Amino acid sequence: MSKEITLSSENKHVFQSSEEFRKDALISDPGIYQKAEDRLAFWEERASTLSWFKKWDTVLEWNPPFAKWFNGGKLNASYNCLDRHLAGPRADKNAIVFEGENGDTQMLTYKELHHEVSKFAGVLRSLGVKKGDVVTIYMPMIPEAVVAMLACSRIGAPHSVVFGGFSAEAIRDRINDAKSKIVITADAGYRRGKVLPLKENVDEALKGVAEIDKVIVVRRVGLDNAVQGERDVWYHELMKDAAADCPAEEMDAEDILFILYTSGTTGKPKGVVHTTGGYLTGVSTTHQYIFDLKENDVYWCTADIGWITGHSYLVYGPLANGATVFLFEGTPDYPAKDRYWELIEKYGVTILYTAPTAIRTFMKWGESYPQKRNLNSLRLLGTVGEPINPEAWLWYHKHIGGERCPIVDTWWQTETGMIMISALPGVTDMKPGSCSVPFPGVKAEILNRSGQPVQNGEVGFVAITEPWPAMLRTVYGDDKRYKDTYWGTWPDRYFAGDGAKIDEDGYFWIIGRVDDVINVSGHRIGTAEVESALVEHPAVAEAACIGKSHEVKGQAIAAFVTLREGVAAREDLVNELKNHVAAKIGAIAKPDEIHLTEELPKTRSGKIIRRILRDIAEGRAIGDTTTLADASAVEALQQIGKQ
Ligand code: WT7
Repeated sequence: MSKEITLSSENKHVFQSSEEFRKDALISDPGIYQKAEDRLAFWEERASTLSWFKKWDTVLEWNPPFAKWFNGGKLNASYNCLDRHLAGPRADKNAIVFEGENGDTQMLTYKELHHEVSKFAGVLRSLGVKKGDVVTIYMPMIPEAVVAMLACSRIGAPHSVVFGGFSAEAIRDRINDAKSKIVITADAGYRRGKVLPLKENVDEALKGVAEIDKVIVVRRVGLDNAVQGERDVWYHELMKDAAADCPAEEMDAEDILFILYTSGTTGKPKGVVHTTGGYLTGVSTTHQYIFDLKENDVYWCTADIGWITGHSYLVYGPLANGATVFLFEGTPDYPAKDRYWELIEKYGVTILYTAPTAIRTFMKWGESYPQKRNLNSLRLLGTVGEPINPEAWLWYHKHIGGERCPIVDTWWQTETGMIMISALPGVTDMKPGSCSVPFPGVKAEILNRSGQPVQNGEVGFVAITEPWPAMLRTVYGDDKRYKDTYWGTWPDRYFAGDGAKIDEDGYFWIIGRVDDVINVSGHRIGTAEVESALVEHPAVAEAACIGKSHEVKGQAIAAFVTLREGVAAREDLVNELKNHVAAKIGAIAKPDEIHLTEELPKTRSGKIIRRILRDIAEGRAIGDTTTLADASAVEALQQIGKQ
């Protein structure tokens, strides 16, 4: 049993892993925090656990805000995730255990995955893909998605994975920004019994792309007309006669491994750049230590490969560590609400890493679903994506973890590449709702605007005060945006964009984003992106979006819209606008609420005062309105609040 050891004055529970867990834990000596005070020595030792073709010259070259880790070293990520496991018993160990939405299954040992990746890497080379060429991947959660990512890294072609739920327009923007000439996709994917037309979206996206060489299409559903013309080619046809001898390219530690687009404060998503050596060091170490990885674990991370969690903790971290990764295409409620628990029972999953929004959904459905299944194989649980409310933590602990599994609440970001704040389950006590303390070798603080640490219990901003190996290196093609966004708040310290408190034990309590980013079910949506999608609609004059608290999603999008002169508020307009946003960006960005209003609350200089919109959406009393240019704007809005 992991027992509750105290109930502090603030009524916050503190949990400690069981003695048994701690005894067997990979990291059970609290001295690791002290040892890692020498950060560079710590990370250098961690890097040396990877396979390098050539050792680095320096551990860190830091010309703020530009970092080079393990510069001069040469390695390959795909080699580290595959080839190096082939010499021993891991060769025949399952790398991927896959189950599709319809219950189809596939297992790939490390040897088999290596074979597939080598073949596909050779295919990409034969199509003319060279080191440094960006390849766009838009795929469902199937083994070929992992093969595609590792094949790219094998030949040194950075991948840019676009989440399969994003729209044609979102794909187009990302292809154009990265100047990518190759797209890997599937005819379609399955979702809750429906067919998602992935290739159709790619076709639509490519209408606005000048230069595209090839679209490689995996046959998932069996849509025969998914491949047409010179540009398109079936994956299975390319693979049929492909040779499997494709040696891994020797990459510089600082060569780009991938680009991943994420939302920020402007309408244009940022291409977050991650490089090879530091990233792999960071994700393999954190994966091993935080998830207490053992040789026989069956590890399941429920994130989609289209997000950073999928990159770092479904692909690169676990495979670099030689883990068995369970890969699932479907959703928790299809065909029934016990799907996850059925899979844990069926495959003997030992580690589950999921999001608070999923846990809250399970809570709502009730414990009868997990109770129907045997979850005794589980020994460790994790969460990521947003703050977890203590009720959800306690429910997860009791009903999924059987009060036996420690829970690691892991705080990090697309930009940090790796988990930055989390408990080490064999060492650190856990407090429900707190992501606990910075990982060894990571320096984080909570600062006020002027860069001073805040007092315990006071709200401030999360800062990372020293460079870390998996940090983003820049925003693709935009060093200035990188500097301004992350390093412009305080000199030489990274601004994460989150508000947080710290308690008397040095535990971090994340409150949420302080910028114009909404966290919907653990996914980042920029208010500016939704607003610009809305104003592209012919009926809309102006739009402002805010995050409104939501029981399951954490936050939901609420939009306030003014119509153009002469446009009447038709009955179906609100739905039309919601669907318009979903079509422009993707279903995850569809606002829950759209309010048509005569005016938006603005300052005299014309800036929208979102705070007032938030008060209205939440049904609260409206705070300070002295900065309003026109007080009558609020009167009309208040009517909305009362609806
Ligand atoms: C934002 C980053 C990192 C993978 C998933 C999201 C929020 C993330 C936690 C956590 C509280 C969290 C933050 C952060 N967040 N994990 N354990 N507790 N908040 O990646 O899309 O880059 O979003 O997610 O607000 O800034 P992302």
